[in-house]
Amino acid sequence: MGGSMERARALPFIRGGGRMTTAELAERYLMQTGRRLPVTFVRGQGCLVYDESGKEYLDLVAGIAVNLLGHAHPDVAAALSAQARSLIHTSNLYFTQPQVELAKRLVELSFPSRVFLCNSGAEANEAAIKLARKWGTRNRDGAFEIITALGSFHGRTLATVTAGGQHKYSDPFEPLPGGFVHVPFNDIDAVKAATTPKTVAVMLEPVMGEIGVIPPAPGYLEAVRKWCDEQNLLLILDEVQTGMGRTGKWFAHQHHSLTPDVMTLAKGLGGGVPIGACLASPRADVFEPGDHGSTFGGNPLACTAALAVLNVIERDGLIGHAAEMGELLRASLEAIPSKSTRGIGLMQAVEFEEPRAKAIQQACLDAGLVVNAVDDHSIRLVPPLVITAAQIDRAGAILREAVG
Ligand SMILES: Cc1ncc(COP(=O)(O)O)c(C=O)c1O
Repeated sequence: MGGSMERARALPFIRGGGRMTTAELAERYLMQTGRRLPVTFVRGQGCLVYDESGKEYLDLVAGIAVNLLGHAHPDVAAALSAQARSLIHTSNLYFTQPQVELAKRLVELSFPSRVFLCNSGAEANEAAIKLARKWGTRNRDGAFEIITALGSFHGRTLATVTAGGQHKYSDPFEPLPGGFVHVPFNDIDAVKAATTPKTVAVMLEPVMGEIGVIPPAPGYLEAVRKWCDEQNLLLILDEVQTGMGRTGKWFAHQHHSLTPDVMTLAKGLGGGVPIGACLASPRADVFEPGDHGSTFGGNPLACTAALAVLNVIERDGLIGHAAEMGELLRASLEAIPSKSTRGIGLMQAVEFEEPRAKAIQQACLDAGLVVNAVDDHSIRLVPPLVITAAQIDRAGAILREAVG
């Protein structure tokens, strides 16, 4: 038995005399950490992606709210190519010009702060959590507990999976790190009741994404901000999914009259190139040399990609366009028989009474439309900001047909 297994391992491409498919190779060689839909994408252009057979799909998932400029954007490709021929990586033992330029641009777009650059949303949140703990040591008698929302999603590292209040993601990994308290989203009284002398921060997604696009109730984020001010707590906003224009503002909190103390970004920031950022206001910016770091974080290649993304968003007026296209997308979803539609800008979801979301997702895929079933009942749509009205019409027609 061992022998045939050894032989199979040595001959990965041979199966019954034929070539293994990408899916078969993935099953053999990739850890099975998640389920994949039965499609292999090989290239993309704007909001379109193509599979191995050349079939075209309209992509309303955009790498899970990542590809703000769609696929293969010429400005990002040109910037990456030029930077790759010049300087890809140096580590953070030295200064690099794209990194400081990106940090400056992010601060100018958001609120007075300084930036830590990393490689993903989870890492950005990990930085925020460490920052809050150090701030608590200095400013609140060693307070360390962070209040987060039940059902939130902050990443898959041990701390961030514990921060997100979803047991299915955290329970297999017990014992989990302490210091997180979960309360229902959109319930300011629950935040107040959970606050103790041990509390150091409240950490929220301004619109809950992964659980199915749940916007904040009117006044909720403002009430949390006020409570944090009164109680001397930090407000951490995880804008990993909502940031960089997706909601029709650069950052979702800009729809409200508040600024956070700490904000995290990733996803859309690099237009598909992995990058994350944690911004801290002067009040929260307590990291000192040696406190935190990342070998790859903020390397010239990733920062150049992010700068190209920011330039195109500004040059092409994509924030306003996202708001406008968001309205169209919302109207098109409202025309579909469903339990509810919800969202803001180009971050929308439609929920069905029956557990049909996975079947609808597959029917859409068959018909050339990529959408994301976040659970059995809800479909999430987070297309590139460059989507057009005609593409929204086409997506709406396919989705309506799939819903039946
Ligand atoms: C709000 C939010 N925070 C954090 C993360 C984690 O980001 P990453 O997968 O880049 O670690 C996600 C990913 O879906 C997210 O939606």
